[in-house]
Amino acid sequence: MLKLGVNIDHVATLREARYRGLAKGEPDPIGAAILCEAAGCHGITAHLREDRRHMQDRDITKLREVVKTRLNLEMANSTEIVAFALKLKPDIVCIVPERRQEVTTEGGLDAAGNRAALTETTKKMKDAGIEVSLFIAPDSAQVEASAQIGAQFIELHTGSFAEHFDDSAARKHELDRLIAASNQAHRLGLKVNAGHGLNYKNTETLFAVPHLVELNIGHSIISRSVYVGLDRAVREMLGIMERSDYRDLFHGANF
Ligand code: PXP
Repeated sequence: MLKLGVNIDHVATLREARYRGLAKGEPDPIGAAILCEAAGCHGITAHLREDRRHMQDRDITKLREVVKTRLNLEMANSTEIVAFALKLKPDIVCIVPERRQEVTTEGGLDAAGNRAALTETTKKMKDAGIEVSLFIAPDSAQVEASAQIGAQFIELHTGSFAEHFDDSAARKHELDRLIAASNQAHRLGLKVNAGHGLNYKNTETLFAVPHLVELNIGHSIISRSVYVGLDRAVREMLGIMERSDYRDLFHGANF
């Protein structure tokens, strides 16, 4: 089955809205991670941003202690955060671009334009036993660069697919880009994850993309949990993802 990594950043966003600068507060992302795992998710994702707008260092350190599935640390390729990750030893890091003004991670990483720096960080991580994923747009040059850099995974940015979901021609165009990028990555020996903007409505359509290993989903699950609770919100998404077992039926279908 396609795996689900739950991004719990927005639990910390909510806490920081009231308790910024304090050493504790609610809701607690650690408790959220425990609930997500109990509901059956396959991994926990958290982004330690340079501006610490949601997750704090103490959150990530504690997550490393409690997460029993896989901890995926999203991070910028900056000296401070790389040093933090090497000490923390998450199971995997996903390197993302970071701009302070953005609401969330908006574009893909320019792997092709930052080969030297990304190759250096990838080597450091791999030497420390940490897997590396690069968050990139479904673009041929970026896929090729990711393979050359030595990453084991790419995470395909599904933001544009999500944004154009309600327009069938644009949706098909975005799906075709994701399919081509995933096939190329697979040929180059990369494992393929995907994420950004996925929700209870658009995720199933993504099963048309071959070779996907894991989806990283945050905002829609945390939003739904406000109404139905985190346990049910995660189980409902897993219920949708179980249908990916039949995804061979989707391949070649005309979406
Ligand atoms: N994957 C990556 C690399 C991200 O940066 C994000 C957003 O933090 C996500 C997945 C999750 O996106 P969303 O919150 O829209 O589900």
